[in-house]
Amino acid sequence: MKQKILVTGGAGYIGSHTSVKLIEAGYDVVIIDNLSNSDVKMIDGIEKITGVKPEFYEFDLCDIHKTKDFFSKNTDIKAIIHFAAYKAVGESVNLPLKYYHNNIASLVNIIQNMINFKVENLVFSSSCTVYGQPEPKYLPVTEDAPVQPAGSPYGNTKQISEEIIRDTIISNKNLKTIALRYFNPIGAHKSAIIGELPIGTPNNLIPFLTQTVAGLRDELSVFGNDYNTPDGSAIRDYIDVNDLAEAHVIAIERLINDKNKKNFEYFNLGTGNGNSVLDVINTFEKATGKKVNYKIVPRREGDIEQVWADTSFANTELGWKAKTSLGESLLSAWNWEKKVRGL
Ligand code: NAD
Ligand code: WQD
Repeated sequence: MKQKILVTGGAGYIGSHTSVKLIEAGYDVVIIDNLSNSDVKMIDGIEKITGVKPEFYEFDLCDIHKTKDFFSKNTDIKAIIHFAAYKAVGESVNLPLKYYHNNIASLVNIIQNMINFKVENLVFSSSCTVYGQPEPKYLPVTEDAPVQPAGSPYGNTKQISEEIIRDTIISNKNLKTIALRYFNPIGAHKSAIIGELPIGTPNNLIPFLTQTVAGLRDELSVFGNDYNTPDGSAIRDYIDVNDLAEAHVIAIERLINDKNKKNFEYFNLGTGNGNSVLDVINTFEKATGKKVNYKIVPRREGDIEQVWADTSFANTELGWKAKTSLGESLLSAWNWEKKVRGL
């Protein structure tokens, strides 16, 4: 019998790509998503790619009654990947309670039901945002680098979530969790059937860039060229969403097969390479043959200068390594944008 994995937020960007990989790896996938930041078309997309329609439940994971009802009727869940959360950093500054409520209440609700219904395995979506701007001696950043005061309510929800998990497993010894700290996920499935679908004006670099090239925006603003980096623009670790998705399958296998060494483990998921904003623009132009219309503007408030991952722990412990090049990821992001816009 296939093992059943609950993917919360499975209609979203990373959740949909991970659902594809889970189905391809032979798991049954059941998705809960309230479609607050996604489209039900993504569920159809998962089916188009894999030939398997995941079971889909549309409701809010902060709803205690609906969540309990789900768990009471689905007693064969082997593990959960909890993606569902709000993720817009800027919005979280203006609407902190929206973020604290959704991201914390849904996690608490999930864990409470895991305890009540004896589901033992959880993979949690965390973020490199927990590291803030690491001191130069901590770059590239390892999992042991100090967690810094959060730069936004969103970032704080990730720190608090990790703490909630850490505290809960002390008295619930059967509960095992792997927190995956993503760096900057980019790209789309090679079929261009699923990809990132930001609602409104994108905050993130890649969707803004591809929308600019697609003609939806006049120009891309490069936020700052006066950072202490080789070309002056800020540096991040852009990780392909398909590589990221594969790491979730490995994390699930590790938990299900009791290969975890501690009941709470956390891993950096990045490429191990830092790329500047100008690198991204140049690589995009080379990979796609398209010109990016951009201008340099002042730094964006709250941005850090540079962060990229030391991925050796994930490489050795999970046996996982990012394999997609920046150019390939940017090409897939562009192919997805073209598909969405009918270009
Ligand atoms: P996304 O918004 O595309 O996906 C999240 C999904 O969760 C959406 O489909 C949304 O409708 C759903 N959702 C939100 N709140 C819900 C609720 N209360 N009940 C049910 N469904 C709910 O985001 P994503 O980029 O796929 O991110 C997935 C996870 O990874 C999030 O936890 C995010 O914080 C984390 N993360 C994302 C990034 C990134 O840059 N994309 C980086 C680090 C961490
Ligand atoms: C990347 C780089 C910008 C847009 C955010 C969250 C983080 C994590 C990942 C969830 C930066 C520059 C951007 C633009 C630009 N998410 N940029 N022009 O800020 O690294 O991280 O997403 O956990 O928590 O904070 O990602 O894509 O917004 O920016 O020049 O129009 O691109 O200044 O250097 P960021 P991003």
